[in-house]
Amino acid sequence: MSTIAVIGAHGTIASALIDELACKHQIIAVSRTHVPSSTNVQCLTVEDYTEDNIEALAQHIDQGSLDAIIVATGFLHDKSYQPEKNLEALSSSHFLKSMEANCLVPMLFFKYLIPKLKQHSLTLAVALSARVGSISDNRLGGWYSYRSSKAALNMMIKNTAIQLKRQKRQTCVIALHPGTVFSPLSSPFKKQNSQWQQPQQCAQKLVKVLINLELSDSGKIFDHNAKEIQP
Ligand SMILES: NC(=O)c1ccc[n+]([C@@H]2O[C@H](COP(=O)([O-])OP(=O)(O)OC[C@H]3O[C@@H](n4cnc5c(N)ncnc54)[C@H](OP(=O)(O)O)[C@@H]3O)[C@@H](O)[C@H]2O)c1
Repeated sequence: MSTIAVIGAHGTIASALIDELACKHQIIAVSRTHVPSSTNVQCLTVEDYTEDNIEALAQHIDQGSLDAIIVATGFLHDKSYQPEKNLEALSSSHFLKSMEANCLVPMLFFKYLIPKLKQHSLTLAVALSARVGSISDNRLGGWYSYRSSKAALNMMIKNTAIQLKRQKRQTCVIALHPGTVFSPLSSPFKKQNSQWQQPQQCAQKLVKVLINLELSDSGKIFDHNAKEIQP
């Protein structure tokens, strides 16, 4: 049985992933909200995703005990901020909040949890990104902060993959676009013609992508159908 850390465990996609994985794997579910522990699911709660808290949390996880890390945190909008329709709507506070939630937090989890991965078997470090973070795929514009923070995450993932390859680590680091899924993050932006998935359907597809990954995939961005997305 493998051990998988799922970060942002209270989130819609994270919860569905935990439901999908917990029948076969041991899950360490990390959240700012209490997630009840259940068969194969141990919850670790942090007040906020500061670097100090993430470092302290990592001390509860044994060195060499993890097979996979899945970071499923993310931020698009809240009461104060809506995705920017134009440059005039850009604000430093919105941009910095997006960068922190969508890029810095996943990378801090990688920083402190990658050393906890097993050393001599193929392991995974996965962060949920978004197709809109692809610069080459950007045809509509808008959503300045969200797009940029996901593009930055994709770059950080590529960097990490290069470093781990040099260190001859057997860790495949990828960014994963989950597709469009009903969740508090996305539902306010529902468009008639997009292909919406239920969280469980999405989780099943994501797990299928993950079990087929090879070390040579490290540094890439994939969607929920295992199709590579260009940066
Ligand atoms: N839903 C979609 O259609 C869609 C499409 C493309 C990409 N994605 C990506 O998929 C991931 C999961 O999205 P979701 O749809 O499951 O969203 P969600 O239900 O809103 O869950 C996101 C989770 O991220 C954490 N979070 C929220 N605000 C945060 C902040 N300011 N700083 C750090 N963490 C924060 C929370 O986890 P805790 O409360 O457990 O701490 C929250 O439950 C995100 O990275 C999102 O960008 C989603």
